[in-house]
Amino acid sequence: MNLEIEEWLDSTNLPNSPIKTIYFGGGTPSIAPVFEIGKILNNLKNKRGFAQTIEVTLEMNPGEISRQKLVEFFQIGINRISIGCQSFLDADLSNLGRIHSSKQALQVVELAKDVGFQNIGLDLIFGIPEQTFEDWKRNLTVATNLDVQHLSVYNLTPEKGTKFYESIFSGDVKMPDEIIQERMFLLAQTILAEGGFEQYEISNYAKKGFRSQHNANYWSRTDYRGFGPSAHSFVDGKRFWNVRDLEEYTKRLLRGKSPIDSSEILSSAQKFTELVMMGLRTARGISMKDLKRKKLADQFFQNYENLDAEFQKKFIVNSEFFKLEPEEWLLCDSLIEKLLAEI
Ligand SMILES: C[S@@+](CC[C@H](N)C(=O)[O-])C[C@H]1O[C@@H](n2cnc3c(N)ncnc32)[C@H](O)[C@@H]1O
Repeated sequence: MNLEIEEWLDSTNLPNSPIKTIYFGGGTPSIAPVFEIGKILNNLKNKRGFAQTIEVTLEMNPGEISRQKLVEFFQIGINRISIGCQSFLDADLSNLGRIHSSKQALQVVELAKDVGFQNIGLDLIFGIPEQTFEDWKRNLTVATNLDVQHLSVYNLTPEKGTKFYESIFSGDVKMPDEIIQERMFLLAQTILAEGGFEQYEISNYAKKGFRSQHNANYWSRTDYRGFGPSAHSFVDGKRFWNVRDLEEYTKRLLRGKSPIDSSEILSSAQKFTELVMMGLRTARGISMKDLKRKKLADQFFQNYENLDAEFQKKFIVNSEFFKLEPEEWLLCDSLIEKLLAEI
């Protein structure tokens, strides 16, 4: 990966502004040797420069991180960590096939604070098989009492091609029913707001001043450059992605060949769809200026006008933004479908 970054840094068409956010994610970057991550950061800093407010996030798995590594990551300049806790109940973790225990998850959060991290995020998942409403309530209560700065709460999505997906669709494993999952989503909104978190995106909550800059840039379709196997990039309206296979990726780089597997130039309809889908999932909504600049906006506003009054009321529409009331986010996908009809 460092080789790919070095080739990019030596290329001519680099943006000349300093880097604002860096995100180490994907697999489990916390198992990588710290000096490797350090080398990448130094390379980027020396050749591109960092913004004063740079946000450098590292995702970590609670089952694979030690105090010593936390100290070293802190020393090389990681200033935001995202801990994949998923749940504080061992039954949930085993149903998810996670290697860590709830005790380890709690320990890593305390260790991270002890080491000096001041921007700590936790990931939690709801809708796990056999997870009850009360289980989820306990997870949210534990999370709000841990004094962290960011919480991401994801609805479990069985991914095609996984054993888990097969077991769900073969009926061997049963997910909590949709009504329970909707109640879990709404419970998160209530308990996390009481815990001092602001919901700034459908799955993301932050204490004041701790929204993820990197994710917010992604949702507002700002350019980003990804490195590593199957990494995605979005530059000047073009999306491209690297080969998935690590061996193929390494072979290409060692032969001086590009690891890019494929790319696509988004059509205006695709760009418009993304603007609406990403925008309406955030508290910020879609900027009216961006919307009105688009040829497809007429159809979009026509679709809005055609909505029943009770649906129209679910949106905040003013000269600056077109957005969805947070308490309506449960309907986000179905409302987006209505607004994007014929587009
Ligand atoms: C999306 S990233 C985390 C980004 C992080 N929350 C942040 O703010 O920087 C990885 C997380 O996705 C979630 N995730 C992974 N697979 C998932 C699935 N199949 N369904 C729902 N959530 C999943 C897990 O919580 C995992 O820790």
